[in-house]
Amino acid sequence: MKKLNEILGTEFPFIQGGMANIATGEFAAACSNAGALGMIATGGWDGDRLRQEIRRAKELTDKPFGVNLMLMSPYADDIARIILEEGVQVVTTGAGNPGKYISAWKDAGIKVLPVVAASVLAKRLVSLGVDAVIAEGTESGGHVGEMTTMALVPQVIDAVDVPVVAAGGIADGRQAAAAFALGACGIQVGTCLLASRECPIHDNYKQAVLKAKDTDTVVTGRSVGGPVRVLKNKMAREYLALEKRGATLEELEHVTLGGLRRAVLEGDTEHGSVMSGQVAGMLHEIKPVRQIFEELYSGGKAVLEATGREWL
Ligand SMILES: Cc1cc2nc3c(=O)[nH]c(=O)nc-3n(C[C@H](O)[C@H](O)[C@H](O)COP(=O)(O)O)c2cc1C
Repeated sequence: MKKLNEILGTEFPFIQGGMANIATGEFAAACSNAGALGMIATGGWDGDRLRQEIRRAKELTDKPFGVNLMLMSPYADDIARIILEEGVQVVTTGAGNPGKYISAWKDAGIKVLPVVAASVLAKRLVSLGVDAVIAEGTESGGHVGEMTTMALVPQVIDAVDVPVVAAGGIADGRQAAAAFALGACGIQVGTCLLASRECPIHDNYKQAVLKAKDTDTVVTGRSVGGPVRVLKNKMAREYLALEKRGATLEELEHVTLGGLRRAVLEGDTEHGSVMSGQVAGMLHEIKPVRQIFEELYSGGKAVLEATGREWL
């Protein structure tokens, strides 16, 4: 089975995970220039904004980069079309089933890697011709499923005959090596890149990630079928209390409306949606993205080479 860097033409077998309102064209280009596959996240952007960001990335890198389509977006159809028009080389998709777009993208020679949280969706999408799947565990930041990376990745690998990328809970070489030991062809990371110099989030957001302990994230939105992992703060506590009381979707949406923008742009880490994965507790300093990818690579290599360890 091919390694992810061979499939994507990157230096490292790593994808910078799409992050809504964070992964701009400039950030994606920085990650591509640092040896991974940079991804522009579309989140709730409209088509014009995406076009601008793709053009910005093209100005800043000659390396491959891709676009992450958030399937819950009201602009999903437009975005799927602009991906074709702008000659994007790689697409990942999040939060849903991208089935209706796959044949047009494949006809255009685009590499398609949907994010899945269960093997049943992986199987269905592989039958539609995707190039690989990204199996994302519930340790991740942002929208999550129920299964852990450790349980999910091998079961997806057993279910499909395309390469599988592991995502969720990977922030150092030990975890990268574990993903490869499970049979993944590469990894996708998000949370560890929040603590990067190039990441365009407010400094308060970065500091909140650096301060977080292992147990400081929580999943909101389970009761309404939209689970999202965030750092615990006033907003998350209020949301969870409302969910416990059986609040309506409208009441819940009132709490989160504009929450990601409040955290990312205004640095309001108490009333904003500070999306982060469980690995936040492992992050202690802000580093350039190149250093983060180099350390993941060299750390993972060292662990895999140390297989002379005694088993018992
Ligand atoms: C702040 C944040 C925002 C995210 N937004 C998106 C998104 O818009 N689309 C998507 O497919 N995944 C999104 N993700 C998931 C990442 O792309 C990636 O799969 C995940 O972060 C990997 O797990 P990790 O956080 O443990 O590294 C987001 C993750 C974070 C931390």
